[in-house]
Amino acid sequence: MVNGNGKVALPLDPEDVGRALRPLEYASMLPPAAFVDQQVFEWEMQNLFHDSWVCLGHISQVEKQGKFIRREIGPDSVVVVGGEDGQPHAFLNVCRHRGARVIEEADGQVKRRLQCPYHAWSYALDGSLVAAPHMDDVEDFDRSCYGLIPVRLATVGGLVLVDLSGEAPEPDDHVGELIEHLDRYRTADLVSGGRIDYEVDANWKGIAENYNECLHCPGVHPELNALSDYMSGEEIAGAGSWCGGSMFITAENAATMGKEGGHAGNRPRIEGLSEEDDRTILYFALFPNALVSMHPDYVMLHTLFPTAPDHTEVICEWFFERKTAEAEGFDPSDAIDFWDQTNRQDWYVCELTQKGVGTTGYTAGRYSGEEGTVHEFDNLVAVRYMEALNERVEA
Ligand code: FES
Ligand SMILES: [Fe+2]
Repeated sequence: MVNGNGKVALPLDPEDVGRALRPLEYASMLPPAAFVDQQVFEWEMQNLFHDSWVCLGHISQVEKQGKFIRREIGPDSVVVVGGEDGQPHAFLNVCRHRGARVIEEADGQVKRRLQCPYHAWSYALDGSLVAAPHMDDVEDFDRSCYGLIPVRLATVGGLVLVDLSGEAPEPDDHVGELIEHLDRYRTADLVSGGRIDYEVDANWKGIAENYNECLHCPGVHPELNALSDYMSGEEIAGAGSWCGGSMFITAENAATMGKEGGHAGNRPRIEGLSEEDDRTILYFALFPNALVSMHPDYVMLHTLFPTAPDHTEVICEWFFERKTAEAEGFDPSDAIDFWDQTNRQDWYVCELTQKGVGTTGYTAGRYSGEEGTVHEFDNLVAVRYMEALNERVEA
């Protein structure tokens, strides 16, 4: 259903949304429909993903000429490619001839052209159309008007962000004070040491909520909880569209979050960090879809790409100091295996939640005192819901 201005209407009750916006001890969680309703999902894709900065990945994936990533944001497909000018460029992944997807692979490398697989129109790395077979005699066909459509792009603290609407607030305001943490952990200078993609049968917000609390850690992650006591962290606040907190490595002889108490990798800490940081993990959710976790010796990035109310593609990637990653014998598998296990434990409970949240007998739950960061995340969503619902009343 669309409303008078052609936008998808948001089928939620303002009173239910208002309950999520109360202070933590009085608040109820987001209404169940927010996790299962197709129209809420479409509203979110239009308003939280199309009209906002969305994280597509890390700068190291697109910093070389011709290196590209392709990601889907709702119905739209976006390509970011390293240009001949040394800068990444973002485009809609739709051929200007008959609309085919130009790039099919999620990641890859081309030399100097992006070529449509259908009739071989080809585009330079700045998006301009450079070859279009059998178009020379076509009346009024101006090649310069048929380049790939550019998408607004920003790289902030190593994160590749795009804004499909072209009208989102300045990217620096979106990231806000999170940049201090991204910079301190040198996120822009790290390089990838591994990646795992997941298909999760859960709503994207359920995945972000789960990421924002460790109340479930003793039961769900016995291995993680043995390294870090679930009550050891604190919330971190600051300007920008994000929330987050800390955890501390409380096991006496653990070195980082990894298999064998983190000793298997035996990696030096990220440059510029102090001894105190050796026992700290920071985790942040940059709205709407990036989860960034900072460890003494690596940074982990989850990016969430929702495809349905009950399905999300998750890309998880691990980043290390270049020097560390290029050293002989570099083996990140202790960190990757540890988090792969933890991720799968998380997806399991996210999917359990998804199974229940839309069924008879579930009404919005209450937050415990240990779910302050979940409440922060839900508030980032609920504020946007409420703005739309208020506009509806005013219209
Ligand atoms: S649709 Fe791309 S060349 Fe025809
Ligand atoms: Fe977890």
